Amino acid sequence: MAAPSDAGVGIYLHVPFCLRRCHYCDFNTYADREALIPAYVAALRADIDAVAAAGPRAVGPPGSDGRGDWPTFDSVFVGGGTPTLLPAADLAGILRLVAQRFQLAGDAEVTVEANPETVDVEQMRVLADAGVTRVSIGAQSFVPRVLDALGRWHAPDAPLRAVEACRDAGVDQLSLDLIYGTPAESDADWRHSVRTALQTGVDHLSAYALTVEAGTEYGRRVRLGTATAPDDDVQAQRMEQVDAWAAAAGLARYELSNWARPRAESVHNGIYWRGGDWLGIGAGAHGHWRGRRWWCMRSLELYVRAALAGESTVAGAEVPDAAQRRAERLLMGLRLRHGVDRQQVAPVDDVVVRRLADAGLLTATDDRLALTSSGMRLASAVTLELL
Ligand SMILES: C[S@@+](CC[C@H](N)C(=O)[O-])C[C@H]1O[C@@H](n2cnc3c(N)ncnc32)[C@H](O)[C@@H]1O
Ligand code: SF4
Repeated sequence: MAAPSDAGVGIYLHVPFCLRRCHYCDFNTYADREALIPAYVAALRADIDAVAAAGPRAVGPPGSDGRGDWPTFDSVFVGGGTPTLLPAADLAGILRLVAQRFQLAGDAEVTVEANPETVDVEQMRVLADAGVTRVSIGAQSFVPRVLDALGRWHAPDAPLRAVEACRDAGVDQLSLDLIYGTPAESDADWRHSVRTALQTGVDHLSAYALTVEAGTEYGRRVRLGTATAPDDDVQAQRMEQVDAWAAAAGLARYELSNWARPRAESVHNGIYWRGGDWLGIGAGAHGHWRGRRWWCMRSLELYVRAALAGESTVAGAEVPDAAQRRAERLLMGLRLRHGVDRQQVAPVDDVVVRRLADAGLLTATDDRLALTSSGMRLASAVTLELL
């Protein structure tokens, strides 16, 4: 199935380095491997060249026509890990290479993810010059005790300095990430974190419920009984609070975990939620093109070796069947405030839809299905019912 034509097309680049590993995080990233950064930069450049030269036929499903040319891309997202650990000139060089090899829309969104303590104004000037339009900064909390419990090591005010540095460099499309429901966090801590984030005046906020991931330090502590898992009721309450406080500050909820001022919604993440197409390049990156999805080698060493040898960095690929595509569209589309196109998730059981609508969890029209605010609190359960 081709992507919905209005869902957009993007490019995701993965940078798998962090100074240290946060206790909760299971993203594909490596600490203490900075020595490999130069080789990784060379590998990423080689892989960008290879993907661009191979063309859309190489990433689409077998037998797809691909028609030879790449479309114009709406977004580039450099995620991690910590992309801002790369020397600014290297990251800028990578973004320039992307812009040479692919056609980017004149108003393309180019986002770089950043850890607060790895941002400075000179670096941001270099990145802005290379086309960066938006920076997403992981604040997580503004309370020392909570940062400690999360295994974050930056000063509580480091995100504020990072926001200033971005603005001084002329990048003012900014997002802050927060995490709620850390067992060490009190109601007052949460209020302080959200208020501090909103007082910066950023145009975008992401607030995630802390999840326990099996392979992480936090997961290990919960298993051993030396840390407690987040409380569902507390998390539900925090989600409602951030929604109210963000709305009062002029940021509307447009996705389960995301709030933005008008026209400041993330273009790139919107491509994932609306079922668009994107190229995924870098260790462990995932991509999706015209119904085929693939994933790159997760191992830093294997990825670097393959890319520098001119070999494929793809570890696996599949073309999901109709049932899998429908499930994925429901899971992603229902995250959006505007919901999902009903045709894309057909068939849905009308009896279940009516029951969920009567319970105030879902709004259903002939064209769309969307979660209500109450439905968003129970998003997983409602989605499961529909599946
Ligand atoms: C890939 S991380 C990149 C951000 C950047 N490296 C940083 O930490 O500042 C993206 C975001 O995912 C969120 N995140 C990661 N693991 C999480 C977890 N277990 N529970 C909730 N949120 C999580 C954090 O808010 C984080 O900022
Ligand atoms: S949250 Fe960010 S800094 Fe922490 S380990 Fe994950 S990617 Fe790295």
